[in-house]
Amino acid sequence: MGRVLITGGAGFIGSSLARALLASGARVRILDNFATGRRENLADILDDVEVVEETICSAEACRRAAKGCETIFHQAADVSVPRSMIDPENTHRTNVDGLYNCLVAAREQGVRRLVFASSSAVYGPEATLPAVESLPFRPISPYGASKGIGELYCAMFSRCFGVETVCLRYFNVFGPRQDPASQYAAAIPAFVSRMLRGERPVVFGTGEQSRDFTFVDNVVQANLKAAEATVDGPVVANIGCGRGISLNEIIGVVNGLLGTSLEPVYEAARAGDILHSWADVSAARRLIGYEPSVDFQDGLRRAIEWYRQNL
Ligand SMILES: NC(=O)c1ccc[n+]([C@@H]2O[C@H](COP(=O)([O-])OP(=O)(O)OC[C@H]3O[C@@H](n4cnc5c(N)ncnc54)[C@H](O)[C@@H]3O)[C@@H](O)[C@H]2O)c1
Repeated sequence: MGRVLITGGAGFIGSSLARALLASGARVRILDNFATGRRENLADILDDVEVVEETICSAEACRRAAKGCETIFHQAADVSVPRSMIDPENTHRTNVDGLYNCLVAAREQGVRRLVFASSSAVYGPEATLPAVESLPFRPISPYGASKGIGELYCAMFSRCFGVETVCLRYFNVFGPRQDPASQYAAAIPAFVSRMLRGERPVVFGTGEQSRDFTFVDNVVQANLKAAEATVDGPVVANIGCGRGISLNEIIGVVNGLLGTSLEPVYEAARAGDILHSWADVSAARRLIGYEPSVDFQDGLRRAIEWYRQNL
């Protein structure tokens, strides 16, 4: 691989992807405004990557950053579902306008392919499970809508303007460097960071809601394969492990791994939350050769180890 651009490369997933791309011999440029990303996420590779601190909301910044790149891995986004319910305009600006700017930049600068970090949030609460890509968009949050609109733009740029696009619908990703501190922290970092301090984890709802929790290395692998696969037209593929795990089950496993017996504190369910979701990953297997290689337990063990050393 030659030069690549990772938007959102200072974030949780983008920084893991940067390490894997460097290891594969790529030259890595990162475009990030550090809204939720952190320089510390790149501490050990700062000398090996080019960091451009600008926003994807600037068409000009995207154009400059895309110059000379053969692939764009578009990870930058306003990533929080609850925050999108409070400030949908910001979600739209970052997730829709920002992606559009990157697609235009890709077209103008002759970038061969853009891999888009989409989300299981495009599916609705009534989706038949496991979710398959042929289901209609039924988002129940501005965040989910922004990812669906992004996919439509990707497909259009592929069909009309010759920019190859692969949209990966990530299902709840977890692993090292996922931020536990934000008020919108995802379930696993929030649980693990509290439980490592001997505090009870806080669950919104009954805890019986389930998700396809996917270790970050699987998502990184999917991106690498998405960049290299031979594709025929726009691609959309779920990226998960194909199994739903409930929040109560996670807390049980974390208690087991830590040797604790901390009972959850249950609070009111949050608006925009889907009850159950897990992925059919057969399209990803068929179209890009994806195969989840780290299972939930192993991933959770590795994540806990990282939080233990870094919190
Ligand atoms: N983590 C998950 O479970 C999950 C699930 C589905 C989809 N995704 C998608 O994966 C991608 C990466 O998410 P993450 O979990 O690593 O989150 P993250 O918040 O750690 O990473 C997002 C990155 O985008 C950057 N960013 C935000 N706004 C920007 C802007 N205007 N210009 C430039 N950079 C900007 C942030 O600073 C951050 O580095 C996102 O597109 C997200 O929607 C994540």
